[in-house]
Amino acid sequence: MATLSFKTLDSLDPRGKRILLRADLNVPVRDGAISDLTRIERLAPTIKELAEKGGRVIVVSHFDRPKGKPVPEMSLAPISEALAKALGKKVTFVPDCVGKVAQDATAAMHDGDVVVLENTRFYPGEESNDPDMAKALASLADIYVNDAFSAAHRAHASTEGVARHLPSFAGRLMEIELSALEAALENPARPVGAIVGGAKVSTKLDLLNNMIEKVDMLAVGGAMANTFLAAQGLSVGKSLKEEDMLDTARAIAAKAKERGCELVLPVDVVVASDFMAGAPMETVSVSAIPDGWMALDVGPKTVALLKEKLAGLKTLVWNGPLGVFELPPFDEGTNAVAQAAARLTKEGKLKTVAGGGDTVSALRHAGVLHDMSYVSTAGGAFLEWLEGKLLPGVVALGQAGEDVAPL
Ligand code: 3PG
Ligand code: MG
Repeated sequence: MATLSFKTLDSLDPRGKRILLRADLNVPVRDGAISDLTRIERLAPTIKELAEKGGRVIVVSHFDRPKGKPVPEMSLAPISEALAKALGKKVTFVPDCVGKVAQDATAAMHDGDVVVLENTRFYPGEESNDPDMAKALASLADIYVNDAFSAAHRAHASTEGVARHLPSFAGRLMEIELSALEAALENPARPVGAIVGGAKVSTKLDLLNNMIEKVDMLAVGGAMANTFLAAQGLSVGKSLKEEDMLDTARAIAAKAKERGCELVLPVDVVVASDFMAGAPMETVSVSAIPDGWMALDVGPKTVALLKEKLAGLKTLVWNGPLGVFELPPFDEGTNAVAQAAARLTKEGKLKTVAGGGDTVSALRHAGVLHDMSYVSTAGGAFLEWLEGKLLPGVVALGQAGEDVAPL
């Protein structure tokens, strides 16, 4: 992907301006409580900076998937309280994101004030990127700042459409996410490797194909590896695999070879007779997986091999666990390799960038979430970036400002 150009907060004087700040407040909630504050904590510096410099900060975000109508349980009201706590500052919640309520509330703001508008997805025009919805949002502000990298794969009114109407800037979190990803994939210190785990080849096809073109070493783990092993003619017992992806796996392996990308597959696995804690288990070579058993983690020889490979890298991109880390002891492979990557990172020998879906929980589980060089707050957007796709929310920032009135 070509390097994208966009304006950052360095070239914005927010004083006295109404700033529509697209955040991603789509935080995980369990039993009515926010279970992970990472997105809020990472967003806070952008809001603080804008407010301290005298901007009037109007935060907009989606939360969950209310499908175009108000769903009380999906209100951003409780999340705006968590944001206030993280900021150490008063935040006013506004129970609508467009229309008179939003107009009046934002018109009454003073320099340095922060408001959070209600869930943008309460309107169908958000996800359909309705031009009227984009205009209605834009009419609340003088400036648009997008700090929601993790929602940038969505071409929605608040992530894409609105950038057509206002001078647009990347927020600090957006800036950090993009520069970390660029440093890892577009312009990495080499050799650069990737660890890609997860269940299915089919959902990571584009990702694998793009990775092969960018990295010098690609290690495949998780149930995905079973499909690659089966494609080599090995019997994987009753392990999870995709029978209809065997040709695809062979094509990926062939392409890797052609491109000079070393494809690293497990050499041993931990197998169990059943998918449950306490089931009989064994460590076997990948060529000796017994019938009726299933691979649930990589084995110690694979861990040693991956550690050796990591030691030869300067940059590592990590997406996806190597085994069923949610079900100990099948977390050992992921833990050991993540800890090795963390150690090399701390020693300054390796730059590690991780993200996407399960990866954050796997790294947290391994106790090394804060020891990577960078862990993205994004799930789907991180994956799409790894697939080499242009993210509409990022593209819109790059194009914005060309056809808008000068400030
Ligand atoms: C995410 O959590 O991945 C983003 O907030 C996007 O949410 P979505 O998948 O509901 O579009
Ligand atoms: Mg998602």
